[in-house]
Amino acid sequence: MDPWLECMDFGVAMTKEAGKMIRDALQREISVREKSSPVDLVTETDQKVEELIISSIREKFPTHSFIGEESVAAGAPSALTDGPTWIIDPIDGTTNFVHRFPFISVSIGFTVNRQIEFGIVFSCLENKMYTARRGRGAFCNGAPITVSGQQDITKSLILTEMGFKKDSEHFRAMMANMESILSIPVHGIRAPGSAAVNMCLVACGAADAYYHIGIHCWDMAGGAAILTEAGGVVMDITDQPRQQRRRRSPPELPV
Ligand code: IPD
Repeated sequence: MDPWLECMDFGVAMTKEAGKMIRDALQREISVREKSSPVDLVTETDQKVEELIISSIREKFPTHSFIGEESVAAGAPSALTDGPTWIIDPIDGTTNFVHRFPFISVSIGFTVNRQIEFGIVFSCLENKMYTARRGRGAFCNGAPITVSGQQDITKSLILTEMGFKKDSEHFRAMMANMESILSIPVHGIRAPGSAAVNMCLVACGAADAYYHIGIHCWDMAGGAAILTEAGGVVMDITDQPRQQRRRRSPPELPV
């Protein structure tokens, strides 16, 4: 009997609800506020979606803890304990949401004893539900997914994000990183605008790697579970694998 499967099923149902809220909100006018910088945005929908997710989960699992992007922005503690903890990004890709650019996701990572037990990323305009339960593989809309397995960087497509810091030191570092990678050369660099979606794109082999300087735990908790279960590896800048699993054979895809 899997103790966390009920939580995962509930999380999937909640992310579907959240996705519906986001799609509905896109039909209306979007009011935007700035957070840490003029390019770090938040909308009323980010807050409403997070409230919906947290209040529903809290009602069902009253002893569980939460780390939510908007709750932390409003002053809640961001403390990872050993207890069951839901790490939530209600809209990963808020800038995309504001511009109606189609990579917008709801991301949930669930930890117990500080280990990720499952991840859920719902790319709600693409209608792609990515899920992974620790030790049981990664899926997109129920079909198994796996990383590309590309070994040759010159044949790879790399994802990144620009981040919110626009001071000259960060800007120079960002441009220097891009120049080094493009001059290898690689097939290309893309910045789709949602960290969680980026990790899922690597998890399903649509891209070969993703690097991001200045990522938050809520941006990556769900995607990290999916990527590692798809045979990928999540590393920090000291080159240490965060979690590692052997790559499985690619699943048979319908023609
Ligand atoms: C952001 C997105 C974006 C990344 C930012 C994140 P948010 O998340 O993942 O791709 O560049 O660093 O903060 O703010 O839209 O939840």
